[in-house]
Formats: sequence, structure tokens, C-alpha cells
Amino acid sequence: MDVKELWAKEYQQSGIPSSFKIEASHAVTWFGEFLQSKNCTQGRLLDLGCGKGRNAFYMATQGFKVDCLDFVEENVNYIQSKAQEMNLSVIPCCQSATDPLPYAPHTFDAAIDIFSYKHHVDAQKRNIYRQELHRVLKDEGFYLISLASYRDGFYGALREDPQQTHAAVTDPYNQIPSVLFSLEDLIREFSPHFHLVQSNERHSTSEMHGKSYQRVILEAIFAKNE
Ligand SMILES: C[S@@+](CC[C@H](N)C(=O)[O-])C[C@H]1O[C@@H](n2cnc3c(N)ncnc32)[C@H](O)[C@@H]1O
Repeated sequence: MDVKELWAKEYQQSGIPSSFKIEASHAVTWFGEFLQSKNCTQGRLLDLGCGKGRNAFYMATQGFKVDCLDFVEENVNYIQSKAQEMNLSVIPCCQSATDPLPYAPHTFDAAIDIFSYKHHVDAQKRNIYRQELHRVLKDEGFYLISLASYRDGFYGALREDPQQTHAAVTDPYNQIPSVLFSLEDLIREFSPHFHLVQSNERHSTSEMHGKSYQRVILEAIFAKNE
């Protein structure tokens, strides 16, 4: 089974929170407040690896024109019909976030990636993603990334070497691979094209595959460098 099929199956089984949650991620509401403080309350926003669109729809209700992208066709079809039904400006696109993006340079005021970047295990593909993100963001654009810390109670515990912060792991329930980062790994990964503006480490308890875990989530806002 390729990774796209593993994701389609994950959505059918709904083992991880983003497969069944409807409300926006805490990271996204935090980013919304950050954007407001910068007087960025409208404009265009891109959601990379949008899933079923919970964050894209939230940002559309906040006044943004949202484009969003996921490689699972069922998600894109779902978002398309929900956007029509709710009369919200959310335009989904079905493609990989690690391929060249179908948007013109300097299109977006902001971009978000909630728990999708961590699934791009190929470093070269992550490099294409960052180059494309840099290309489609406006010069004054901001980018929010949220992912599991290497100290996360679910993903972090899957590391073979507990000394490693930047490690590849596989979810044993759905076989989907991930990469783990520390904040320092992320800053290194996104330089020299982006610099860190704000970060947050969010601790919570949540269900993964029907069991409760102590979660440690990294949230980081980056700005584009020239
Ligand atoms: C953990 S889910 C998060 C979904 C959404 N961001 C949310 O917070 O609800 C990760 C999403 O990334 C998508 N994804 C993973 N790899 C992808 C890729 N290479 N291109 C596009 N989407 C991808 C999956 O299909 C899935 O919907």
C-alpha cells in the first residue's frame, strides 16, 4: 500500500485526532490571534496537508480566502461540497504538497501546516516543499507549522534512540511514517529561507487510536527571509 492509500485508510478508521476532529487546531486559533496583532485579518491563506479542512474552514470564517491542498481525493471532494454548502471561500486542490505548487509567486499572505509536514520523511521532498512555500508566500508572509515534538508521548516514544531529536518513526497502528523534530531542528530546517518569529510548546492529553497519551506539540511561526 502506498502512503496515500494508508492515509485514505486512516481516515476510514479515524485513529488519530485530525481524522475525526471538526474544530480548528489550537495552533491555528493562536496563529489567527498572531495575524490579527499584525493587522493581517484578510487576504489569502494556504493550508498544506489540509485533511478534511477543519483549519481551512476556520480561517475562512475569519475572513481569509483559503486555498488548501491534500493528496487524498476523498478529502478534497468533501471540502469542495462543504465549501459550496457553507458558502465559504475554500478552494481545495488534490496533489502532493511536496510537488511544485499550482500557485503564482507571492500569492499568499499566510500559510499553515498542521501535522502534515512531519509526514514528509524524504529530506529532498521537504526541501522542494520549503522552496515552493517560499515562492508562493508574499515577502511579508507568515507560516505556521505544528507537529509532534520528539518528546511527544505517542510519537516520541516510538524512537529507537531516545537521544535523537530528529528521528524517523512509524505509527504501528496505521503504518504511516513520520519525522520528529525539536524546535532547534525546525529552525535549522527552515533556514536560510525563513526565520522564527514565535514558538510555543503545547502540552495536552489526547486520544490516539483509542488510548490516552500525554502529547507535546511544537507550534512555530516563521517569517520569510528575502
Ligand atoms: C495528520 S493529518 C492533518 C490534517 C489537517 N492538517 C488537520 O489538522 O486536520 C495529515 C494530512 O496530510 C496529508 N498528507 C500527507 N502527506 C501529504 C503529501 N505529500 N501531500 C499532500 N497531503 C499530504 C494527509 O492526507 C492528511 O490529510
